[in-house]
Amino acid sequence: MKLNRRDALRLGLMGGSAFFVPFGVQKPLHAAPFSPQIPRFVKSLPIPKVLSPEYSDETTDYYKITLQKNRVEILPNTTTEIWGYNGLFPGPIIRQRGGNPKTEGRQSVVRFINTLGQDDGDCDIDAVIHLHGMASLPQYDGFATDFVPPGHFKDYIYPNDRAATIWYHDHAIDKTSRNVYMGLAGMYIVEDGFELDLPLPKGEYDVPLIIRDAFFEQNGSDAKLVFDNRGEKSTYGDVALVNGVPWPKMEVARRKYRFRLLNTSPSRGYQLALSREEDRMTVGEKMVVIGSDGGLLEKPVTLTSPYPALKLDMAERYEIIIDFSDYEINDCVYLKNIGFSGSIDVDTRIHTLMRFDVVRDEPDNSTIPDPLRPVKRLQESDAVRTRTFRFERSFSQWLINGRGWDENRVDANPGFGDIEIWEFENPGSGWFHPIHVHLIDMQMLDRNGLPVHPHEQGWKDVFHLGEFEKLRVIGEFGPRKPEYMTRFIHGKFMMHCHNLVHEDHSMMTVFEVGENGDEPKSDAAKPIAEMKSFKETYPEPPQVYDMEAIEEFDEELYGEGR
Ligand code: C2O
Ligand code: CU
Repeated sequence: MKLNRRDALRLGLMGGSAFFVPFGVQKPLHAAPFSPQIPRFVKSLPIPKVLSPEYSDETTDYYKITLQKNRVEILPNTTTEIWGYNGLFPGPIIRQRGGNPKTEGRQSVVRFINTLGQDDGDCDIDAVIHLHGMASLPQYDGFATDFVPPGHFKDYIYPNDRAATIWYHDHAIDKTSRNVYMGLAGMYIVEDGFELDLPLPKGEYDVPLIIRDAFFEQNGSDAKLVFDNRGEKSTYGDVALVNGVPWPKMEVARRKYRFRLLNTSPSRGYQLALSREEDRMTVGEKMVVIGSDGGLLEKPVTLTSPYPALKLDMAERYEIIIDFSDYEINDCVYLKNIGFSGSIDVDTRIHTLMRFDVVRDEPDNSTIPDPLRPVKRLQESDAVRTRTFRFERSFSQWLINGRGWDENRVDANPGFGDIEIWEFENPGSGWFHPIHVHLIDMQMLDRNGLPVHPHEQGWKDVFHLGEFEKLRVIGEFGPRKPEYMTRFIHGKFMMHCHNLVHEDHSMMTVFEVGENGDEPKSDAAKPIAEMKSFKETYPEPPQVYDMEAIEEFDEELYGEGR
């Protein structure tokens, strides 16, 4: 269908990009049609605080995060109730030293304390915390029914073996989309010596951009976050938030910046590109992709606007360099979202996310190394089997191979150390699915038989599966050497669509690596009354991971330096 300018105005769609492709228009089913209109590019981009450990010993840093309700100003002159880690929106950043545990890497214990209480319907807000992108033991991976009920806490232990931009978020069965929508999401950065030694932009020039959408209903000074999953299909908003602020601006110097992009939206994917003008796409703006979900790419990949845009599905991470010395002082550069294919939603003040204002000169001794970091390619010929997973909607449910979630059913059991090819299929029906596999990073082989984009060729844990697509990915389910078969890592993990509404209803399944792994619910949350200080709880640092095995495994898999 075609939409003329008047139709678009009526639907409130203009002000987006000239590349906006309005097919599949559906009216939002919200109680109120749109969030209040607010001025954009007024507030400065805030940078979420880096959380300091409460306590450290020789191998481990101990952090404490309280899940709590809070009221924060998101829309001007109003406050909004959010559910946040430490009451923050988004949560605090954990920045941890990873890498070889013998020489540099640190282990984390993060104590999550749930004080969220009840929701509007007087139901307990049971939390589950998943650190997305970390290879955690099953009992620390946030299995969807391993609850931390209100009044309880749980210590999650993380090995930090891979340098990457990852994130923690809620994973409670059936409620993940609402809980993440209400604010339960935060970034977690693992760095190692190899990466820190590279001459990439650092410090204040290394900037997280946590992107999501939200819908607000305003009543006087109360702007309520409205969660509407539209008949269990998807939840969208018409306000773009970056680091918790609607359409921020950021003043930048004429030099290179590293941006860590993370999409925490429950259901919205983005296609990112830069433009010098807000209402049309200018040609030739560059972003250089240096990393994806699982860390640095082998080589930098330059994307030049308007196409190809950088697709950022839900839960995906990309790291990019923007060199603002390509611009003059007083230039503005817009981070645009230039439209979708599949799962169309047309609330589209969302076609611009934020603005960079180039305001000053500054020296820049950073460079983008080429190559960045060796990436060992997994070989198809090493795969011992292929499995097929079909993601589709039927009987008003979101299903994988025709089945919904059953925590007691294991749908795949790769042998410990096996290399497998997983084939994801989307037979169509108007939706794309970002497929997330817990525990391991994988590599994409091809999409509909064609090579994937160069920037998709690194280590990843979320895979864009478009309509009518068949995507093949390859992964290794642990190290193959028999002497490693002690702790690292057997057990049951989840695989699901990261459209969180699809995940909740119930496009999620269990796979099990090897046998005799720890049970996902073997380390249950405890009442807050039983909580002791870290020092008392851990007179010795916990040793639940076989760190040497992890280190050797990583060297073998990732090559020198990792
Ligand atoms: Cu980001 Cu299973 O989740
Ligand atoms: Cu989906």
